[in-house]
Amino acid sequence: MNYRHSYHAGNFADVLKHVLQCVALEYLQQKDKPFWLLDTHAGIGMYDLQGEQAQKTGEATDGIARLLARDDLPPAIQRYVEWVKQVNSPEQLRWYPGSPWFSAQHLRPQDSLTLCEMHPQDSGALAENVRSEFPAAKQIKVLEQTNGYGALKALLPPPQKRGMVLIDPPFEQRDEFEQVVRALTDGVRRWATGIYAVWYPIKDPLTIGDFHQKVKRIAGVEKVFAVDLLIRTATDRSKLNGCGMLFINPPFGLTEQIHDIMDYLTPLLAQDRGAEYQSIWL
Ligand SMILES: C[S@@+](CC[C@H](N)C(=O)[O-])C[C@H]1O[C@@H](n2cnc3c(N)ncnc32)[C@H](O)[C@@H]1O
Repeated sequence: MNYRHSYHAGNFADVLKHVLQCVALEYLQQKDKPFWLLDTHAGIGMYDLQGEQAQKTGEATDGIARLLARDDLPPAIQRYVEWVKQVNSPEQLRWYPGSPWFSAQHLRPQDSLTLCEMHPQDSGALAENVRSEFPAAKQIKVLEQTNGYGALKALLPPPQKRGMVLIDPPFEQRDEFEQVVRALTDGVRRWATGIYAVWYPIKDPLTIGDFHQKVKRIAGVEKVFAVDLLIRTATDRSKLNGCGMLFINPPFGLTEQIHDIMDYLTPLLAQDRGAEYQSIWL
């Protein structure tokens, strides 16, 4: 396990993922009934953009930093940016929150959140960050050094019956897309009505259709929605040219707002004139 998210925190991929994560969480909050969230690949929860690893790549410069100075953000993106501002001083962008933090901020007393992180050091850091940021939140559980795919099998279906599973792997392994399809197959068999949100990298855009189709063919899966963002022309297919988010049982508010969000984000995060997005029902 070589991947450390601290090299990439706050980059364009985090922006897309966390904007859509927040929109989905807002949807879950619309009903009083409790919801449960499972984050299978949680990371450490809070990232120091002045730290050595983040400074080495500077990726947040072409991600969250491009949004902070804007005064014309669509409401859904504005709310996400406000969460980021909340952990920073007005003068300096230093901290970038991860998916556990965005989830935790949307919990009401009746809701709960389970976080899995497998990396020994990062899972310790996650547990420590949760303890210090959310000391009173008894409903947040950190499963340290735990394989998120295994937890997904073990914990579904949740008693709450409403909620979302976020799957955000590092894609270090060649068969990670297959692992995700297997996890979704297991998940949907156990909990067909849950929302599943998967982040994935796009190097060669032509290979993504295959992944989409495999998800669509999973038994019991009916509603699948995917948003793919390319930040540049994919001339060099060894590079991260974009990323996507796929939703099984997408929240209504997300599909409804997607064009407002992506029409704004795509040119803002663009690195050349080949930037584009597509949002599709599969
Ligand atoms: C892309 S990062 C997660 C970022 C986080 N979701 C966020 O948005 O802030 C992927 C994380 O998954 C962890 N990881 C890798 N394989 C795992 C597995 N099988 N189960 C749980 N965590 C895993 C890595 O150590 C890494 O911290």
